[in-house]
Amino acid sequence: MTPNIPVNILMVDDQPGKLLSYEAILNPLGENLIKANSGREALELLLKSKIAVVLMDVSMPDIDGFQLADMIREHPRFQKTAIIFISAVHLTDVDRIKGYERGAVDYISVPVIPELLRAKVSVFAELYRKTQQLEKLNRELEERVAARTEELRESESQFRSLANSIPQLAWMAEAGGSIFWYNQRWYDYTGTTLEQVKGWGWDIVHHPDHLHKVAEKYRQSVATGEPWEDTFPLRGQDGNYRWFLSRALPIRDVNGKIVRWFGTNTDITDRKLAEEALVKSERLAAMGRLAGIIAHEINNPLEAISNAFYLLRDHPSLDEEARYYSKLAEEELARVAHITKQTLSFYRESQRPVAVSLAEVLENVIELQSRKLQVSGISVDKRFYTRGLVQGYPVELKQVFLNLIANAMQAMPDGGRLRLRLGQSKDRRNGREGVRVSICDTGGGILPEHAKRIFEPFFSTKDTKGTGLGLWISKGIVQKYEGTIRFRSIRNRHVRATCFSVFIPAVSASVTPKVSAALVA
Ligand SMILES: Nc1ncnc2c1ncn2[C@@H]1O[C@H](COP(=O)(O)OP(=O)(O)OP(=O)(O)O)[C@@H](O)[C@H]1O
Ligand SMILES: [Mg+2]
Repeated sequence: MTPNIPVNILMVDDQPGKLLSYEAILNPLGENLIKANSGREALELLLKSKIAVVLMDVSMPDIDGFQLADMIREHPRFQKTAIIFISAVHLTDVDRIKGYERGAVDYISVPVIPELLRAKVSVFAELYRKTQQLEKLNRELEERVAARTEELRESESQFRSLANSIPQLAWMAEAGGSIFWYNQRWYDYTGTTLEQVKGWGWDIVHHPDHLHKVAEKYRQSVATGEPWEDTFPLRGQDGNYRWFLSRALPIRDVNGKIVRWFGTNTDITDRKLAEEALVKSERLAAMGRLAGIIAHEINNPLEAISNAFYLLRDHPSLDEEARYYSKLAEEELARVAHITKQTLSFYRESQRPVAVSLAEVLENVIELQSRKLQVSGISVDKRFYTRGLVQGYPVELKQVFLNLIANAMQAMPDGGRLRLRLGQSKDRRNGREGVRVSICDTGGGILPEHAKRIFEPFFSTKDTKGTGLGLWISKGIVQKYEGTIRFRSIRNRHVRATCFSVFIPAVSASVTPKVSAALVA
C-alpha cells in the first residue's frame, strides 16, 4: 500500500474568496481539495465521495457550520469524519465545539494562520489515511483468513473422502491423543457410533487381555511425540476379533508443534494366519523329516531282528513256551516294522519331480518374510540373473531357502542388508552346469569354533528359539539334489558378512527322494 495517496479535503464557505485562500494555504499538502459554497452542496459532496477532513466556516447563510456538523454526524458513515471549524473565537463557540464528543473536531480562529491550518488539516488527513490503511489491512487479513479457512475445509474434506476410500480403518486425534474422527470403514467394521468411541472410548472394541498394554503404549507415544505402532485384536460388529497392525503419525504445524495424530489400523489377520500356518507346516515338515530319518535308521536293524526271529520261529531247541513268546515278539516286531514303513512312506513325497524356478521360490520366501524384514529394518538387495530352473520338489526347496533366509534375518535383529544372488554356475568339483544361490547377511557372523558344528543336528546358538535342525535338514535336501551348500563368515573392522552358497545341478540324476541320501549329511 502506498502511504501517500491523496485524500479528499472538503472546504465549505459561502465566500469564494475565502475558499480560494484556503486552497492556496492547503495546496502544498498535495491532497485533493474540494470546494463547496454552501452547507447543502457540502452534504451532496460528502455523500458522493469519501471525505477525509471537512473544513467549514461556522457562519454561513443557509445552514450554519454547527448545524451542518450536526447533520454530518447524524449519518453513520460520517460519524468519525474530521471537522475543522473556522470561526471568530467566542467562548461559546469553543464550548460547542468541545460538545462534539464523537469524531475528530477542531477549530481555527480567524484570522487564519496558514501554518496552523495546514498543520491541523495535515494531522487529520494523515489520521484518515492511516485509518484507511488499517481498515484495508484488516479487510485483507479477514479475506485471507476466510480463504485459508475455506482451503482448510476443502483439504480436510478431501482428506476425509480419501481416508474413507482406503481399505484401512483410519482416525484422527487431537494433539493430546483424544480421537475425534474415524473413517467410515471403522464404523462399518466395529459397528460403533462416534458417540461411543470418541475421545478414549475406543477401549470398548479392544480385547481385555490387550487393552492395558495398547493404551499404555499409545499414551506414551502421545506424550513423547514418537510415531506409534502396535499390533492387537479389535472386535468386529459380528463379535469376532481380527488382528490389526496399527500406526499413528503426529501431524505438526510450521513450528513443529503437534496439532493432530493420524492413525490407521490394517487388518493383518490373514497374513498372521498364513505366517503361523507356514511356521507350523515348516515345523511339521521338519518333524516329518526327522521321523523319516529315525525310521530309516531303525529300519535296517529292524529287518535284521525280524530275520533273526524268522529263523528262531522253528528252531528245534525251543520248547513250546519259548516258541509262543518268540511268536508273540515276532508279531509285535511286525507291527513296529509296519509303523516304521508307514513313517518312511509319509516322509517320501509321492509326486514326481517338477521344473522349479528358484527365482520364484526365493521371491515367495521374501514375500512371506516381507513384514518381518521391514520390522527388523533389513533391506533386501536381490539380483536374479536367471529363473534358476531345476528339477525337484518345490516344498523342500522352499524349505532350504526359508531356513537360510530365516537364519540370516535372525542374525540381524537390529537391521542390516540381506543380499540375494541367483545365477547360472558350475559345480566346482566336476564342472557340472547348475544354478547357484547365495544368501549373504551383515549380521553377527559365525564364530570359528561354531563353524564346524552348524550342520550338525541340534546344534543351535539360539537357546529355545532354534531347534538346530534347519541347516542339517537343508544340507540333507541339497545333497539329495547332488548339490552343495557352503558358507563363509567374515568379521573384521571393515566387513561383516556371512554368506551361504547353494549349488543345485540343473538336472539332477537322482531327484527321487531317498532317505539314504539325506543321511549322508
Ligand atoms: N547367517 C547366519 N549368521 C550367523 N549364524 C548363523 C547363520 N546361519 C546359521 N548360523 C548358526 O548356525 C546355527 C545352526 O543353524 P540352524 O539353522 O541349523 O539352526 P537354528 O537356526 O539355530 O534353529 P532353527 O533353524 O530350528 O530355527 C545357528 O544357531 C547359528 O548359530
Ligand atoms: Mg535356522
